[in-house]
Amino acid sequence: MPGFQFSGSREEVLVQGPRVLVTGTTGLLGRAVFREFHNSGWVAIGTGYRRARPRFLQCDLTDEDAVRRLLHEYKPEVIVHCAAERRPDFMERHTEAAVNLNVHATSTLAKEAAVCGASFIYISTDYVFDGRNPPYGENDSPNPLNVYGRSKLEGERETLRHCPGAVILRVPVLFGEVEFVTESAVTALWLKVQEATEESCTLDHCQQRFPTDARDVASVCRKLCERVRQDPSVRGIFHFSGKEQMTKYEMAVAMAQAFKLPSHHLIPLTEQPMGSAPRPINSQLNCSRLEMLNLSVDPRAFAAAITDCLWPFTADKRWRQTVFH
Ligand SMILES: NC(=O)c1ccc[n+]([C@@H]2O[C@H](COP(=O)([O-])OP(=O)(O)OC[C@H]3O[C@@H](n4cnc5c(N)ncnc54)[C@H](OP(=O)(O)O)[C@@H]3O)[C@@H](O)[C@H]2O)c1
Repeated sequence: MPGFQFSGSREEVLVQGPRVLVTGTTGLLGRAVFREFHNSGWVAIGTGYRRARPRFLQCDLTDEDAVRRLLHEYKPEVIVHCAAERRPDFMERHTEAAVNLNVHATSTLAKEAAVCGASFIYISTDYVFDGRNPPYGENDSPNPLNVYGRSKLEGERETLRHCPGAVILRVPVLFGEVEFVTESAVTALWLKVQEATEESCTLDHCQQRFPTDARDVASVCRKLCERVRQDPSVRGIFHFSGKEQMTKYEMAVAMAQAFKLPSHHLIPLTEQPMGSAPRPINSQLNCSRLEMLNLSVDPRAFAAAITDCLWPFTADKRWRQTVFH
């Protein structure tokens, strides 16, 4: 993790270019995006909110004046907007605050990006689809089933309303280099894998998912930004996804196998759990538009990528030696 928010003083940043502003750099995807740009010779400026200090700039994106000041001060050429509330169950209960971030803050950023002439990339989700007729192309009609999906779709619409040249990148469930194991819905399964006691442990085996490594999404974001700078006709909606279709149960078994742990306590649950936000049963994304423009990356294989991300959370030193080289 880079230990700074940008390289050099503010004055130096303004002359070094090209500059990218990444929102949500304290989160799972923003962290990977920030690092990808930083390692590729961009001047990356990262913002977070509650976890921002001391590594990143702190900016409450729901504060319109603060957003305006931020863009005026740092004058980014590209903005990658990763910050969002992305927990579907939480959003059903705390709708107003989450919509404020996912919709209104997106609207402000897109408006200000257009004023500054910055390219804008908005990260969206496969949850804009209802999951009844996969795979979904970029032009297929969205029909979100929950508050989260509706707010992200609204964010897409606000983006294109204010910034017609913007790029929208939809991705499915993410995992990656997490700071704590429950930071992603995928790595959180590690807790269940390790519960190999007499107690059995049920895991969803209904919803088909395509776990995607945030580092691969970050590479796609950078490639998209570099292409957009050369060719502003590259705009609109793109999809990117891992290729392996798995339920949560199958992901947990794959983790157990990767670490040579028992999986007999993991029980597939074939009914959707009651009381949680409705989710699409299979919102597989067709990614042909990225592929046709040669902007995609080969997604990492799940077993290898998840081992890489989980090894810091295992007490077994053998894995540290095996994986970390
Ligand atoms: N994670 C997934 O499985 C998944 C799947 C599909 C799409 N996506 C999309 O991918 C994007 C990134 O998701 P993620 O998983 O990286 O999210 P995350 O880990 O939950 O991070 C959310 C980020 O938003 C920031 N934030 C929250 N409230 C803010 C505010 N008021 N002002 C400024 N920043 C604020 C957080 O900052 P602090 O923590 O510092 O407060 C954090 O950096 C989102 O657009 C999400 O919809 C995610």
